[in-house]
Amino acid sequence: MRKTIIVSNRLPVKISEASGEYTLQPSEGGLATGLGSIYREGNNIWIGWPGQEITDSKEQERVTKQLRKMNLMPVYLSQDEINNFYEGFSNETLWPVFHYMAVYAHYEQEHWDYYYQVNKKFRDIIMKVAEPGDIIWIHDYQLLLLPGMIRAEMPEISIGFFQHIPFPSYELFRLVPWRTEILEGMLGADLMGFHTFDDTRHFLNAASRLLPVNTSANIVSYNDRAVVVETFPMGIDFNKYAEMGSDPEVLQQMQHLKENFHQDRLILSIDRLDYSKGILQRLEAFELLLQLHPEYIGKVVLYMIVVPSRDTVSQYKELRDEIDKYVGNINARFRTLAWHPIQYFYRSFPLETLSALYNFADICLVTPMRDGMNLVSKEYVASRNNNDGVLILSEMAGASKELIDAIIVNPNNIGAITRAIVDALNMPLDEQQRRMKQMRTVVAKFNINHWVKLFMTRLQEVNEMQQNML
Ligand code: UDP
Ligand code: G6P
Repeated sequence: MRKTIIVSNRLPVKISEASGEYTLQPSEGGLATGLGSIYREGNNIWIGWPGQEITDSKEQERVTKQLRKMNLMPVYLSQDEINNFYEGFSNETLWPVFHYMAVYAHYEQEHWDYYYQVNKKFRDIIMKVAEPGDIIWIHDYQLLLLPGMIRAEMPEISIGFFQHIPFPSYELFRLVPWRTEILEGMLGADLMGFHTFDDTRHFLNAASRLLPVNTSANIVSYNDRAVVVETFPMGIDFNKYAEMGSDPEVLQQMQHLKENFHQDRLILSIDRLDYSKGILQRLEAFELLLQLHPEYIGKVVLYMIVVPSRDTVSQYKELRDEIDKYVGNINARFRTLAWHPIQYFYRSFPLETLSALYNFADICLVTPMRDGMNLVSKEYVASRNNNDGVLILSEMAGASKELIDAIIVNPNNIGAITRAIVDALNMPLDEQQRRMKQMRTVVAKFNINHWVKLFMTRLQEVNEMQQNML
């Protein structure tokens, strides 16, 4: 039977070790949470890194067996590969450049060499399971060379590629010394997807300026093959979040929140630790709110969850220290005996807790400097069964193209974020409901199943088109 092979750097579960025992936990991040329910169907398989170095071959065998029962296949990375491929080229070169923060980028030959080798390692593992007729769906910036590498081995196989982070404008992309190799790698796919029209346009522009390709509309002809490049804004499992609101565990946690926060208005902020998320700027805007509007002291709480991420990369470590300091400072300055302005958590939470917070919070404040999509904003909307609550959303998040009824802000404009919070705190219920209803319609319709179906159907159409062109 024809199968779909999903490939991403990180598996949807990660392994952690405590006193010699390995346990599995769900991975954080939009990619893992978004596609989490898809791979379990039929004989589909998801190939990726389980997030932990395991050197002992017996241990590897044991973990592999455990994962195989869940349709997962691990790619084990050595510590050198983690340092150079994952932390190095993926997260110190591609991540900052693609998020328009080129000043953070390092360009190191050794990182690139590892990036190339690890993409090859993924290729070799795929080759062991791929059969003619299968579909290979590769995800994200850690594996940009993989489509081309697989194409060289299996010219006929169907390959889709989706990028979950922005594709930057040409002026940024050209900074990367290995830019042509990257584009050539990506063009091994038959269908390439991005979250927004701008990302799609930027890719097409970069390809036509750097490679001898012919582009007509959204089709790139390269090496006698036609590659289709299109926009597929990713959705979430809307029903799951909507239904969680009546889960007994969620209701209980909401009750606790009610008891703890009494009359307080709650502003919710949830992100991975990342400089692209604008966490410091958000704190600045909240501090300004307390300075300019002392009437909110004792009445408004910022509930801020920062999920640990990539904390071995120096910029992330530094950011964590800065957040710790800033939060401490605001709390020390403004707290009263009975009230803390910021409830700050540096950890991840289970879905039930996130759902209780989404249901309980008056405002969800999402202000990334850049974000491919941002699923947290959609999860908040999907959770608001009463159609109340206000979403404040950065115009730099892909989601802002769809959630146009949010209060849209420029994340660099601290004053505007503060004003948006004041507007949100004072928004009449009927306006909240009008906006939330519109957004819920969008999130419900363009949900994750719709996204997968759309991408897969299009991939099949592209393959048929290619057959007809032969
Ligand atoms: N998330 C999670 N555990 C947490 C906090 C967040 O699993 O404790 C999830 C959240 O529900 C969302 C994802 O992490 O689905 C974050 O995705 P988003 O697109 O907002 O940002 P990314 O991390 O992909 O940059
Ligand atoms: C974003 C990226 C994913 C990545 C996730 C978590 O969502 O698009 O590819 O998996 O962040 O980051 P991590 O480095 O922990 O995998």
